[in-house]
Amino acid sequence: MQVDWEHLKYLNGFGNHFSSEDPRCPNSLPKDQNTPQVCPYGLYAEQLSGTAFTAPREANQRIWFYRILPAVLHEPFSSIKSELLTNRWDLSEPNPNQTRWKPFLIPSVDDEKKNFLDSLATVCGAGDPCSRHGASISIYACNSSMDNRAFCNADGDMLIVPQHGSLYITTECGRMLVKPQEICVIQQGIRFSVAVDQPSRGYVLEVFDNHFCLPSLGPIGANGLANPRDFETPAAWYEDRDCDFTVVHKYQGSLFQSLQNHSCFDVVAWHGNYAPYKYDLRKFVVINSVSVDHLDPSIFTVLTCPSSKPGTAIADFVIFPPRWSVQEHTFRPPYYHRNCMSEFMGLITGKYEAKEEGFQAGGATLHSCMTPHGPDADCFEKATKDELKPMRIAEGSLAFMFESSLSFALTTWSMTTCQRVDHDYFKCWSSLVKHFTGPK
Ligand SMILES: [Fe+2]
Repeated sequence: MQVDWEHLKYLNGFGNHFSSEDPRCPNSLPKDQNTPQVCPYGLYAEQLSGTAFTAPREANQRIWFYRILPAVLHEPFSSIKSELLTNRWDLSEPNPNQTRWKPFLIPSVDDEKKNFLDSLATVCGAGDPCSRHGASISIYACNSSMDNRAFCNADGDMLIVPQHGSLYITTECGRMLVKPQEICVIQQGIRFSVAVDQPSRGYVLEVFDNHFCLPSLGPIGANGLANPRDFETPAAWYEDRDCDFTVVHKYQGSLFQSLQNHSCFDVVAWHGNYAPYKYDLRKFVVINSVSVDHLDPSIFTVLTCPSSKPGTAIADFVIFPPRWSVQEHTFRPPYYHRNCMSEFMGLITGKYEAKEEGFQAGGATLHSCMTPHGPDADCFEKATKDELKPMRIAEGSLAFMFESSLSFALTTWSMTTCQRVDHDYFKCWSSLVKHFTGPK
C-alpha cells in the first residue's frame, strides 16, 4: 500500500500522555490496565522506560507498546565496525581554534549506496555514555534508505536537523515526515528507520544525560518560543511483515547488530509519554529586544537538555529565524564574545546575519569554550554605519546552534578525513582595525 506521507496524522502536544491505536485494530489498547492476562488481538505488552521507575512524577517517562512480537525476539548482538560514529574523544589532540566547515559532501545517486545510519559521522563531542553524561554532534549525508534495518540508540536521545532532503521516518510509535526547517527528537531506546527520496544531509545532536524539554519561560509568561501544541508525535502504525530484519544497536559508543525474522515496527497500539516528536521551526514565536541592545541567544531556545547545574544545559537547541530588528542606537548583529559554553552552528538555508560569506548552508562552525568570536570585519563595518530603521533580518534564512556546557573534542573525521575544514576561517576577522580615537 502506498503511504501518503504528506497527510499522516499526528498527536499534538509536548510531553503529553498519549494513547494511540492503529485504526485497523480498534480497541487494541487494553482497558483500565497495562498488562492484562491476555491482550486484545493476542498482542504482547512491553514497557519502554525513559526514566528510572522511581523518577519524580513530573519527570517520569515511559511508554507501553502492544506489539505482535516482543522486542526480545532476536538473535544475539554481534559487534559491527563503526568507523565514523564515535564517542571516543581521546583519539585526537585538543584544538581550541575557531573552526568552520564548508558544506559537508552529499553522495550523489550514482555513488556507492549509503543510508542515514551508515553515513553518520561524528564531528565533536564530550563525555561518556557509560556514565550517562555528555553529548555528541554528527553529520549524516546519505543517498539511500534503511531497508529492513532499524537503529536503536541505547546511549541517548537524538535531535535530528535535516538540512537537505526530507526524512521519511518509521518508528515503533508510528511514522513521521520531517522536512528541512523541521526537526525531530527520537529518544533513547526507540527503534527507528530512515528512508530518503533523494541524496540528503543534516545534523544530529545526541545527549546522554537527560531528555530534551522545553525551556522555562520565566517573565516571558505562559506563551512564546516553541509552543507545546505545535509538537507532533506519530500515531500508531504497524506492519506484520516477516523478513530478514536487522536492528543496529548503539551501546556504550559502539555499534552492534541483531538479526530477526520480522519487522520491528509491529506496534499496533501504545500509550505513554515517551514517544518521538517533530516540530516545524517556522512556528517558533520569536522574542527580542524592542528598545536597545542585542540580547543573548538563549531567547531563541527551542529545546534544552538540562544538566544537574541549574540553568546550565548539556545542550540547548537554538535557532535564528527570520524576525524584525528594531533596537535603537544598538550594534545589532551578535556582539563579540567569549563563552564558557561550546557553540556549534549549522545553517539550514540562506545566509547567516553575522557572516554573509563563508558560512554556507550544509556547513558548520564550532566556537569552543572561551575561544573568541563575533561578527566578521565586513559585518562590523556595515552594522556601525547602518541606518537603524526597523528592518527584517535573516529573511529566507535559518541558522541554528547546539550550545553546550561541555568542552567539545573534535574527531579525526571532522578535522582531517572529511576534508571540509576551511583553513582560512580566521581571516574573516583579520581586517578588523582600531577605531580608537585616543584621549581627547
Ligand atoms: Fe557565540
